[in-house]
Amino acid sequence: SIGLLKDKFNRIHDYLRISVTDRCNLRCVYCMPEEGMTFEPDERLLNYDEITEVVRVLAEMGVRKLRITGGEPLVRRDLYVLIRQLAAVPGIEDIALTTNAVFFAQQAERLREAGLTRINISLDSLRPDRFKLITRGGDVARVMAGIEAAQRVGLYPVKLNVVLMQGLNDDEIDDFLQMTVDKDIQVRFIEYMPIGHQDDTWKLRYVPLSSVLDRCSERGWKVEEVQSVKGNGPSQNYRIAGGRGSFGLIHPVSDHFCASCNRLRLTADGNIKPCLYWSHEFNVRPLIGDDRAIRELFYQALDVKPESHEMAKALQGDEPSHLPTVRRMSQIG
Ligand code: GTP
Ligand code: 5AD
Ligand code: SF4
Repeated sequence: SIGLLKDKFNRIHDYLRISVTDRCNLRCVYCMPEEGMTFEPDERLLNYDEITEVVRVLAEMGVRKLRITGGEPLVRRDLYVLIRQLAAVPGIEDIALTTNAVFFAQQAERLREAGLTRINISLDSLRPDRFKLITRGGDVARVMAGIEAAQRVGLYPVKLNVVLMQGLNDDEIDDFLQMTVDKDIQVRFIEYMPIGHQDDTWKLRYVPLSSVLDRCSERGWKVEEVQSVKGNGPSQNYRIAGGRGSFGLIHPVSDHFCASCNRLRLTADGNIKPCLYWSHEFNVRPLIGDDRAIRELFYQALDVKPESHEMAKALQGDEPSHLPTVRRMSQIG
């Protein structure tokens, strides 16, 4: 029989993140340079049938959860077609999307009907002028419309991703927390990671997440830990007593969660990445059509997956033990 995707550290991989494009309609200051980057030409991207083939093979190896990412996944044409194909693969139980949601409202219904189950929305500021600054031109009203549409079509829970950055949005922690009191939404505060930029400008923006719990006690908000938020991601979850929603802390840098890592990645150009942080990559594209060869390649990728990343070393300026990836987050997903 076909084996599970287990690595040397006994971690079982049942979750695949699929990046469908390296392009984006925004240019968040921490993610992409203003002028954009050299994007993959269309013919280098896996098409929807190729992605579905890979997923079919992986589902036989125990993958149950998928997350569609980018760049911005909604800039890929007719994404609902891919979702529909993936939802039909035997074994797949959960298909989530990570998006900036600018293009979401008008497609919410169709994506939901195609089989989308969950959505995580990147939103680093609630203030229109500041959102525009951070994203270099984005309209926060469209994101808010996206959030409402997600709730209207019944995606649950809706999660917001807030990357905290010193001097850019760390004064909005209270506003985001207040949002979890008022709305049935989950706000996740995320530590800024040194992905694709190991220089000192990154360190100046890095905020450790203890500051969020400090704000709660300063405000006199009573905080309780919450266990069950759907999706088994790396977030530690809390609720402000009496609040409708909840908040999560994702701290990849100060306290990593690699021991429980269950995820593999597939980049838009068909590279398997066993770890977000490191440079190891394996191109699956030439093997599509040969299930056995695809399986072998995934085993090879798992075989070199390190026990953990070393982002904290980047913070201290120490030498890493392997080569960190030179991809930006938009090219990984
Ligand atoms: P859920 O299934 O809803 O829990 O998704 P998620 O939180 O895993 O996915 P999402 O795409 O929303 O990512 C949120 C944040 O998690 C990102 O900004 C990253 O900071 C962090 N993250 C996602 N994947 C990884 C990973 O493989 N390693 C590490 N260290 N951090 C990750
Ligand atoms: N550090 C932390 N999170 C990041 N994201 C993009 N780049 C970084 C980074 N350097 C976030 C996005 C999105 C999620 C997939 O990753 O905001 O919500
Ligand atoms: Fe685009 Fe996401 Fe990067 Fe922002 S964080 S520029 S939305 S890929």
